[in-house]
Amino acid sequence: MGSLAMLVLLFFSQGQSSTPEVEKRSTCDQCDERLFCNCSSRNYRHVPTVTVTEVVTLDLSFNDITSVAEDDLREYTWLRTLDLHSNRIQSIHEWAFHHLQGLESLDLSYNQLAALNPAWFSKLLSLQHLNLLGSCYRTLGPGGTLSLFRSLTRLRFLRFGNPALEEVRRGDLAGVRQLDQLEVYGNNLKRYDPGSLGDLWPLGVVTLRLRGPFQDNTTLVSSIIHDVSYSETFLVVADVLLSEKTSVAPFRETNRRRVRSIMFQNATLTDEAIVHFMEVMDGASLEFLGVEDATFHGTGSWTPARRTHLDNLDTVYFRNIEVMNVYKFTSFLPVGFLLKNLRQISIINCKVYVMPCLTSLLLTQMVYLDLSGNLLTDLTLTESLCHGIGILRNLRVINVSDNALKSISLISKLVTRLDKLVHLDISQNAYTSMPPTCSWPQILTHLNLSRAKLRRVTPCLPPTLEILDLGHNDLTAFHSVALPALRELHLSGNKLMSLPPGWLFPSLEVLLIQSNTLNMFGPLDLQLYRRLRALQAGQNRFVCSCEFVNFMVWRWGGAVEGSVELTDRWDNYLCDSPLPLQGQRVDRVQLSPFQCHRILLVSSLCGCMLASGILFVILLWKIHAVWYVRMMWAWLKAKRNSGNQKRRDAAGNAYLLCYDAFVSYSEQDAEWVEEFLVPELEDSQPPLTLCLHKRDFLPGHWIIDNIIHAMERSRRTLFVLSEHFVHSEWCRYELDFSHFRLFDGDSEAAVLVLLEPISKDDVPKRFCKLRKLMSSRTYLEWPQEDERRAEFWNNLRLAVRGGDEL
Ligand SMILES: *[C@@H]1O[C@H](CO)[C@@H](O)[C@H](O)[C@H]1NC(C)=O
Ligand SMILES: *[C@@H]1O[C@H](CO)[C@@H](O)[C@H](O)[C@H]1NC(C)=O
Ligand SMILES: *[C@@H]1O[C@H](CO)[C@@H](O)[C@H](O)[C@H]1NC(C)=O
Ligand SMILES: *[C@@H]1O[C@H](CO)[C@@H](O)[C@H](O)[C@H]1NC(C)=O
Ligand SMILES: *[C@@H]1O[C@H](CO)[C@@H](O)[C@H](O)[C@H]1NC(C)=O
Repeated sequence: MGSLAMLVLLFFSQGQSSTPEVEKRSTCDQCDERLFCNCSSRNYRHVPTVTVTEVVTLDLSFNDITSVAEDDLREYTWLRTLDLHSNRIQSIHEWAFHHLQGLESLDLSYNQLAALNPAWFSKLLSLQHLNLLGSCYRTLGPGGTLSLFRSLTRLRFLRFGNPALEEVRRGDLAGVRQLDQLEVYGNNLKRYDPGSLGDLWPLGVVTLRLRGPFQDNTTLVSSIIHDVSYSETFLVVADVLLSEKTSVAPFRETNRRRVRSIMFQNATLTDEAIVHFMEVMDGASLEFLGVEDATFHGTGSWTPARRTHLDNLDTVYFRNIEVMNVYKFTSFLPVGFLLKNLRQISIINCKVYVMPCLTSLLLTQMVYLDLSGNLLTDLTLTESLCHGIGILRNLRVINVSDNALKSISLISKLVTRLDKLVHLDISQNAYTSMPPTCSWPQILTHLNLSRAKLRRVTPCLPPTLEILDLGHNDLTAFHSVALPALRELHLSGNKLMSLPPGWLFPSLEVLLIQSNTLNMFGPLDLQLYRRLRALQAGQNRFVCSCEFVNFMVWRWGGAVEGSVELTDRWDNYLCDSPLPLQGQRVDRVQLSPFQCHRILLVSSLCGCMLASGILFVILLWKIHAVWYVRMMWAWLKAKRNSGNQKRRDAAGNAYLLCYDAFVSYSEQDAEWVEEFLVPELEDSQPPLTLCLHKRDFLPGHWIIDNIIHAMERSRRTLFVLSEHFVHSEWCRYELDFSHFRLFDGDSEAAVLVLLEPISKDDVPKRFCKLRKLMSSRTYLEWPQEDERRAEFWNNLRLAVRGGDEL
């Protein structure tokens, strides 16, 4: 028993250990037509098999991959971009990337690599981007002559470092020759061999995160700044706390190396540091100074720096700065010397609520002013622009987007005397209406009025405009405002139901009208735009009629090269109605010919029905259908009557067969009937009673009723057949009634007398009843010779009386 349990246990433990093998086989099939496989965020624990081996871009970020084995990537020799960031990679096989000789971009950031191995990169001769940020390696490779990057001669973008990085040694970056971007994370760097980064040249943007060294080893920071600074370098100093004199000392190097652009990111600054920074930078070639995502502890008391010279400073860019003591903050006036030469000022999202007119008066050179994302109101903006008296004469661009402005009329008055203003961005404000007229600078060409709440446009819009953005308002129509110079019109995100009339904008080249309520547009709409090149009209409520779908497919479906290009993607063009097509792409909709030629089809269908109706009627007329129907009706009536009569019989009422025979004859044969037939039969012994329509029909009754009645009350019907009879309609009725009676079982009811010799075949085919009668029973022929007439009469009397005697 014991050994069996052991076996079972063994079996199970084996089964368990093989599960990871199965996991390893997991596949990723999220590849698109551009051979981009997005296998991001899918909890892979190993590099998955990708279904497309020609994959060019492979995104494996945000998984749980812990290692990259030798063969994991062997097949993907077409790979250009490999993204492995934010996994838990601890080990990578030496040869894991050896087959990826075309690889241009490799991202290994934010993993758990404890050491970097030069063998990984030895075959990546095409690599241009390498990101090694994060992880926990303490040095860049093993050091010595074996540099991590010695084969990467094409490298242009390099990012390395992590909180654990302690040393950068001389030779660590050997092999890297030219970089466009370098980012170093060395917040805890302890040792830097001067010159280690000195051979990388030229450098575009250098980002240094050296929080620790800035605090406790400024010599180290100075060496690094010395090595990476060139006059073209855009130096970004991030994650720093600059609070005292010593911490800004390394910038002496930037001054010496004539760096022209410095940006502080994610920094904490104090008054003291700023004053010393200005002193250190005295006489520098600094042109651009930026501060982004920073916290400022201070009151703006920078007076001690007033003797410094930063005459080259041209642009200041402040964004997302939190001023801790905003209410203690004094004005910029003490450093007015700084402002004199400034040409471009951006103070974005810094809670600015006013720029005093006195400050504005100093900004005589200013060309560009961006105060977007602040707390300006109509009132404080009036102060900032000095009541529109026309200072700031050089201003060409004003951006007061995303403030709390409400009056278009006011802003137009404030800027109207700025003669050089060409671009005004007043988007994201609280404008709700546009006055009927406004006054604007003479050469204003760009106006951004997007993301307000405008419902109507008026001739307030200046006719000089070339680019107008009215996107994301509440416009329902755009007409009656002609803008002859307009080249670009942004109307996305409104409620327009149709394209604005093109003749209003004879110069328009670009029209953006996405996310409105457009139902459709067609060739005529577009024709009115004579210069239109680019159109974006996706995400509308398209009614996928045949005209629209055909127009869209014909115009942009491939073959025809139109002058207007659709610059947004087809998957933005979806049908909104009819319901069965909702959500389908306009260019993929399949419309049946019935839907497309409905009117034609319906009209031809009606035509067909009409024609067959007429044919049917003609047919009915040909086969005397009306007559048959009338007959049938009369017969049914007759049956009902006779039924009534029979009931009356049952009730004991006297019911008599009044006549021996009803004589059916044509008017033309009346002479024969009256002269010969009536005397011969009625005067015979015993006399026979005959019913003649002329004599016995009740006046005032319907003739058919009379006929039926007479037949009902006669034992026999005597047909006097002749050519005339055949042509008489009434005679045919009579014949038919008697025929019906034959069907009723009274087989002896009809007696036929042939007045002149007509053979059965002379009777027209439509008198099938008569033909049938003639062939089914014998008939009496009226003899021409006198001597045979006595016999005829005898026979006739016998025939009329016949049934009685039998
Ligand atoms: C890749 O997929 C992830 C999750 O499925 C998604 O969040 C990400 O936006 C995708 N990336 C691209 C570039 O489409
Ligand atoms: C500062 O860094 C330099 C260069 O790495 C080093 O030689 C020096 O010992 C460091 N000084 C301190 C106080 O850590
Ligand atoms: C900003 O700097 C602080 C301190 O160095 C750091 O903890 C934080 O992650 C940084 N923030 C960003 C967005 O880099
Ligand atoms: C104005 O500022 C907004 C918000 O910061 C920005 O989106 C827009 O591009 C700026 N306009 C100009 C002309 O720079
Ligand atoms: C107008 O402003 C909005 C928001 O500030 C911005 O997104 C848009 O790009 C601007 N339009 C143009 C044409 O620059």
